[in-house]
Amino acid sequence: MKAPADFSARLLRWFDVHGRHDLPWQHPRSAYRVWVAEIMLQQTQVSTVIPYYQRFLDAFANLPTLAAASEDEVLGRWSGLGYYSRARNLHAAAKRCMSVHNGELPSDIATLMQLPGIGRSTAAAILAQAYGQPHAILDGNVKRLLCRLFAIEGWPGTASVEKQLWPLAQSLLPAGGEHARLADYTQAMMDFGASQCRRSRPDCAACPFEADCAARRLDRVSELPRSRPRKVWPQRECVMLLLAARDGTFLLHRRPPVGVWASLWSLPQFDDIISAHRWAKAFGVAETVLAPMPVIEHVFSHFRLAIQPLHAHFDVTSNRVADTDDSRWLSALELKSLGLPTPVRRLIDSMTESTNKRLTQ
Ligand code: ADE
Repeated sequence: MKAPADFSARLLRWFDVHGRHDLPWQHPRSAYRVWVAEIMLQQTQVSTVIPYYQRFLDAFANLPTLAAASEDEVLGRWSGLGYYSRARNLHAAAKRCMSVHNGELPSDIATLMQLPGIGRSTAAAILAQAYGQPHAILDGNVKRLLCRLFAIEGWPGTASVEKQLWPLAQSLLPAGGEHARLADYTQAMMDFGASQCRRSRPDCAACPFEADCAARRLDRVSELPRSRPRKVWPQRECVMLLLAARDGTFLLHRRPPVGVWASLWSLPQFDDIISAHRWAKAFGVAETVLAPMPVIEHVFSHFRLAIQPLHAHFDVTSNRVADTDDSRWLSALELKSLGLPTPVRRLIDSMTESTNKRLTQ
């Protein structure tokens, strides 16, 4: 398999015309700013990331500020982006940089990859963009481009396909020298995969690599890369209690530090309705006032969760459960700055909206 001649020069010419040049982490470009961006972009699209990125950088402008923040502050600024382990890893990595790397992000790829949340492609993306180091990236967009260019079989999420793709990605890098434009090249690979070599109906006629592309030659562009083999994830069920006090506060519980939604504030959660009723009864909420709301489904990476919310408005005076570290009555305003799982935030928002509507009618 031979790399097309001049690949990087042609890609950079494409990038100069069609690429993204005004992303917030490009101006100014520092290792810290690129790192935060790459972590946010791991599972989220650029257009969604940008406003969160700006708010995050307003709060944590540099690595020492991030390391000094509390986990709740970091999760709060991440709230809404999902996949919170990214935020927890980012925070843990910032602390590690303070304690063992003189307050800096390591500039050596092997050391950088030892930090939590930084795999090989993310480390390469950071070092290429921040310092112009010659490391290849291999995110979903780049995998698609390579699978087509070289007609690689198999789903690119498997280790055996990745093993073929890494050396190909490395072989396409611009040759060294200070004019190699590694930062632009890295952004160009992502932009090219996201727009020109997109998954469905790519614009092959306008592609600078049309004559080099094995998938195009074999008329297999729509078949490559192969999709993930289909798997039906199991469905789990739970019940959540949405207890709203007359003073406008809601009862929130903090999730345990391990497992899904680790350490996030969430609603009291039970395996079944009987356990939920029993628990509510213990502090004076009768089963009959717990009203079922429509079931919502949340998709995790390896299972689906059907949530049956039960809600009650009640006067909390005598039998109000006490605030503790892991259990608090919080107002809608206080909840805005905390990290909440997305379906929980939606449930509380819908309840706040319907209460406000009732009050203004
Ligand atoms: N995905 C991951 N990193 C990215 C970047 N720098 N630009 C666009 N998409 C990305």
